Amino acid sequence: MGCNKQLYYISLALLMCLGLWAVQVTSRTLQDASMYERHQQWMGQYAKIYNDHQEWEKRFQIFKENVNYIETSNKEGGRFYKLGVNQFVDLTNEEFIAPRNRFKGHMCSSIIRTNTYKYENVTTVPSNVDWRQKGAVTPVKDQGQCGCCWAFSAVAATEGIHQLSTGKLISLSEQELVDCDTKGVDQGCEGGLMDDAFKFIIQNHGLDTEAKYPYQGVDGTCNANEASINAATITSYEDVPTNNEQALQKAVANQPISVAIDASGSDFQFYTSGVFTGSCGTELDHGVTAVGYGVSDDGTKYWLVKNSWGTSWGEEGYIRMQRGVDAVEGLCGIAMQASYPIA
Ligand SMILES: *[C@@H]1O[C@H](CO)[C@@H](O)[C@H](O)[C@H]1NC(C)=O
Repeated sequence: MGCNKQLYYISLALLMCLGLWAVQVTSRTLQDASMYERHQQWMGQYAKIYNDHQEWEKRFQIFKENVNYIETSNKEGGRFYKLGVNQFVDLTNEEFIAPRNRFKGHMCSSIIRTNTYKYENVTTVPSNVDWRQKGAVTPVKDQGQCGCCWAFSAVAATEGIHQLSTGKLISLSEQELVDCDTKGVDQGCEGGLMDDAFKFIIQNHGLDTEAKYPYQGVDGTCNANEASINAATITSYEDVPTNNEQALQKAVANQPISVAIDASGSDFQFYTSGVFTGSCGTELDHGVTAVGYGVSDDGTKYWLVKNSWGTSWGEEGYIRMQRGVDAVEGLCGIAMQASYPIA
């Protein structure tokens, strides 16, 4: 009797183990199957095509890792922002940064900054600014895999000041900068600086429209005919005093401002909503445009920033970045190299 009972318990334990193992295997298979489903669906959504099975396998692995990272991060409490499964989820962070973030700031430590600042005596600024509501911001654009963030940033700031000074919002040509602004520091898809783009626009007496000189996303030869047509122009540009968020606020209160940031982190890659609080460093590698600022419902102060990665990234192509941080450089170095064109 005693022996039978022992056998009974051993069998029961074995069965339970077997059951547990089966559940584990099934759940792993199910997880993989659901990941597979999600990857398939995601490929359809973003019209992704892979060359062969090897490439698919590699991308699927990265997809799985990134989706797990995104979901784990979102479950952690105490964050002001969410990550999302966007169009960049099948890329590692290194792959992601390489072709896109080509602001040249950190490579040129001896950049000569202008020292006049027309907003230095501004004493009052509104608590909220959104230049989109004033009609000074064109729809979000997509630079694709060309590292000309600097052109998109400079163009957005130029579109802004042109609208504020003439009342007309005209979408202007980044491709003209990519193709024609090649005699100085700026090198099309290989990178550039917003200040040098402003210099080109001044010397060229303006820029053509986006419609007439459309974006191609690759380096091309300068179309001199189109480049001689100027839909909007600027007369000069200035730099915002560096490492001073108050100075930046005075500037943004008056017009959209080109800013350089460190956008190299995974959280930036997968940012989807909320006020971004980092993590990021101050190795400036990306050019974007500050088109406003405000305070979120939970009281977090932010900069409203227009990016050039299409509308499926972030909040319809925008990111709200924490404002008024302890570091003088601002979050991700946003206050380090801000500048603006003058009509
Ligand atoms: C700011 O005020 C000072 C003192 O009145 C003046 O010298 C300076 O030119 C002003 N700056 C601007 C940009 O108007």
